[in-house]
Amino acid sequence: MERTFVMLKPDAVSRGLMGEIISRLEKKGLKMLAARFMKITPDIASRHYAEHVNKPFYPKLLNFITSGPVLAMVWEGEDAVSVVRTVVGKTDPKEAAPGTIRGDYGMIKTMNLIHASDSTESAEREISIFFSPQELVEWKRADEEWLSF
Ligand code: PPS
Repeated sequence: MERTFVMLKPDAVSRGLMGEIISRLEKKGLKMLAARFMKITPDIASRHYAEHVNKPFYPKLLNFITSGPVLAMVWEGEDAVSVVRTVVGKTDPKEAAPGTIRGDYGMIKTMNLIHASDSTESAEREISIFFSPQELVEWKRADEEWLSF
């Protein structure tokens, strides 16, 4: 089983899309292990987006991600990292395929609704920024045997 870090960004929260997005991840067959509704500080943002802090778009990204509450989550499932990236769609919502979260609900790259880890290494690093190991809840979905080999 793989774990991935997912964050619903301030636009998803403000636009009332949290339930819709969580529902998609649940229906896909993923299992939520942790969630925290919170405001991100500039310090957390710089740790989370460490590889982007020197990029020209970072001030815009920082301003957006700290502008309102986010919902930070950990999800688990078989190949969860790539499965969630597929459900989320391409970074730029204009290019994201219909049927993906960004493809269905997004318009602009800065406000693309959701973050999802791009590798198992990133997932481990990002999860540890937002959650302690004790906060990840172990439980079984009733339909788990239908969702992995
Ligand atoms: S890169 O340079 O190719 O590695 O960047 P990319 O993977 O496209 O994006 C990394 C994250 O930065 C966000 N991003 C932006 N935010 C604001 N403005 C602009 N112009 C911009 N370009 C990229 C992008 O949404 C990615 O955020 P996450 O949360 O990882 O999806």
